[in-house]
Amino acid sequence: MRIGIIGAGFAGRAAARLAAQHGHDVTLSNSRDPATLPATMLSCKVGTNADAASFATTVLLVLPFARHTTIAPALLAGKLVLHASDYNPRADGPIAALDSRATTASELLARYFVGARVVKALNTIPEKEIERDARPPGTPNRRALPIAGDDEYAKRAAAALLDQLGFDAVDAGPLSEGWRFEPGRPAYGTPLDRAALTEALAAASAPASAPA
Ligand SMILES: NC(=O)c1ccc[n+]([C@@H]2O[C@H](COP(=O)([O-])OP(=O)(O)OC[C@H]3O[C@@H](n4cnc5c(N)ncnc54)[C@H](OP(=O)(O)O)[C@@H]3O)[C@@H](O)[C@H]2O)c1
Repeated sequence: MRIGIIGAGFAGRAAARLAAQHGHDVTLSNSRDPATLPATMLSCKVGTNADAASFATTVLLVLPFARHTTIAPALLAGKLVLHASDYNPRADGPIAALDSRATTASELLARYFVGARVVKALNTIPEKEIERDARPPGTPNRRALPIAGDDEYAKRAAAALLDQLGFDAVDAGPLSEGWRFEPGRPAYGTPLDRAALTEALAAASAPASAPA
């Protein structure tokens, strides 16, 4: 599969290495000149955001939440887009619609990236554990990762990709349910297998004024 990864920090580089190890054709981009990226160490190509998006069928967004609006929506139209970010008010600055719980971070991104098939995925696993915990399909107690999305076909494609990369996927529901695996929730940051993750998602308590 041709995978574009936008965001080449710790998490983006770990995802790029894992995808390349599993036979995918990967192009990685950052906010600066691609020449700042050590492509030989990453076993993937490097390029601009436009390079990463235009060659790919699937794009993984691994950049700070507030930085997504620097990416032109047209670049991602028609693509399967996995976003691994969480809103962090201290780093991103206040976003009223999220602070008031009127919507979720994933819904905001989906509205911005018109025409993209957005799935929230890969946000819960610390970067050091991405390669460490990947296991072949069928491995007992394999680590499971939650996904959320409004497009069932996109979620099935995301789950199949996670499975091939080394993780079970557990569907947490539509993008409006993405809060169930945000920071501070039981499903966030802890290695859990499918059964334990399913329980953790169900046990998540709703934010003070959860989206309707
Ligand atoms: N770290 C983790 O364990 C982890 C795990 C899962 C998910 N995440 C999520 O992944 C995101 C990145 O986390 P990180 O720890 O990898 O951060 P990081 O190490 O600070 O890296 C951020 C990366 O995003 C790039 N970036 C920023 N604005 C960009 C733009 N407009 N276009 C292209 N690239 C841009 C930066 O480019 P430059 O290098 O040019 O500055 C940098 O490569 C966050 O939303 C985080 O919540 C992190």
